Amino acid sequence: MDPVRNPYSPGAGTRPPALVGRDREIEAMDVALQRLLLGRDGRSQLLTGLRGVGKTVMLNEFEHIAEGRGYFHEHVEVGEDGRLPPRLAAALRRVLLAMDARRRIGERIGRALGVLKAFSIRLPEGPELAIEVEAVHGPADSGDLATDLAGLFVEIGELARDHGTGLLLTVDELHYVGAPVLEALVMGLHRAAQLRLPVTLAGAGLPSLAALTGEAKSYAERMFTYPVIDSLSEDQAQEALVVPAEDEGVAWDEDALSRVIQITRGYPYFLQEFGKQAWDAAPDGEVITLEDVDRSVPVATAELDDGFFRVRTGRTNDAERAYLRAMAELGPGPVRTAQVAATLGKSATALGPTRDALLKKALCYSPRWGEIEFTVPMFAAFMKRWLPPPGEAARAADEAL
Ligand SMILES: Nc1ncnc2c1ncn2[C@@H]1O[C@H](COP(=O)(O)OP(=O)(O)OP(=O)(O)O)[C@@H](O)[C@H]1O
Ligand SMILES: [Mg+2]
Repeated sequence: MDPVRNPYSPGAGTRPPALVGRDREIEAMDVALQRLLLGRDGRSQLLTGLRGVGKTVMLNEFEHIAEGRGYFHEHVEVGEDGRLPPRLAAALRRVLLAMDARRRIGERIGRALGVLKAFSIRLPEGPELAIEVEAVHGPADSGDLATDLAGLFVEIGELARDHGTGLLLTVDELHYVGAPVLEALVMGLHRAAQLRLPVTLAGAGLPSLAALTGEAKSYAERMFTYPVIDSLSEDQAQEALVVPAEDEGVAWDEDALSRVIQITRGYPYFLQEFGKQAWDAAPDGEVITLEDVDRSVPVATAELDDGFFRVRTGRTNDAERAYLRAMAELGPGPVRTAQVAATLGKSATALGPTRDALLKKALCYSPRWGEIEFTVPMFAAFMKRWLPPPGEAARAADEAL
């Protein structure tokens, strides 16, 4: 088929041609945002799920809804360093400047920026924000992060409320944030929620998204729901493939669809990649057949290996890759770390640092104590395509000596 008209969209955070199976979360978010504008309570969402299931797409969708409801919004992506407060401060600066530009807020914007400036000066990490106002001391520079975030959210929340608008912050890759900062964030937001201010946050992260504890946990449960974003059901996966093609006047043969769904197991990223390659492999016409799919499988697999999978194993050392390969040998599914150690012929203690590094890089997570699993769906099969089994690699290394 004409590649120019190819509707499928594999990529990080790229909006799919048909956003399937997420109606409940989208509807709930829209209701929450409208309630907050009315001064009612509204529960936002912390989305969790494996790589490539569509979490970022959902955050983008939430921003789109918020915009339609007259909200200001900003997006923050946390990096592997886990630093959130400086990124949050920078995002809030952008929000305030945008609010001022569009709503002509006058003097109060100066005060809000001053509070933000004092907040950012007090942060142990990160450079001071370039804000050309005097710092306003008091509301957000005590040095206690929870209190200071509360001060900041209240300041901005009141400003938004008084101008008939609200603020949605979206935070992606939230699993990189350590528990103390996450808890401070929840506590800070809770203060704004108590005052019924139209400020909220929607977050997304891997299943390892640090489990909150203590007071923060009960606050979080009142402010957020925790939808798990997962692979699509068979019907939904069909829809994700069929609808975009239909819009271009192209149909899928039943057995062609079944094959793609069987291979991809309904994982959104894979559906987009296999859909795209099957389209390109099909001769010009009106139907994508099983033969087209079969011809496109090696191309789609290679694309995923070189892109989706390889990107996520990029910065691993030999020991880490050996660990991942051993997991693949034992998997798929969660495997016991003791078994991984046995497979590699090492002690679990000796492998501790390697395991911790993989958890920190979020390539793996620990679903239960003593167990480890990949955060990337179908990663075991990739590792097997990529590297020889543990024993063989070790033997080859020995022989090379
Ligand atoms: N509901 C859906 N239906 C069909 N395709 C989808 C859906 N959601 C996402 N996709 C597609 O899946 C791919 C991955 O989406 P996205 O980048 O949002 O995933 P993610 O969960 O944020 O992944 P990561 O954890 O790697 O950041 C994109 O190509 C997107 O178009
Ligand atoms: Mg993402």
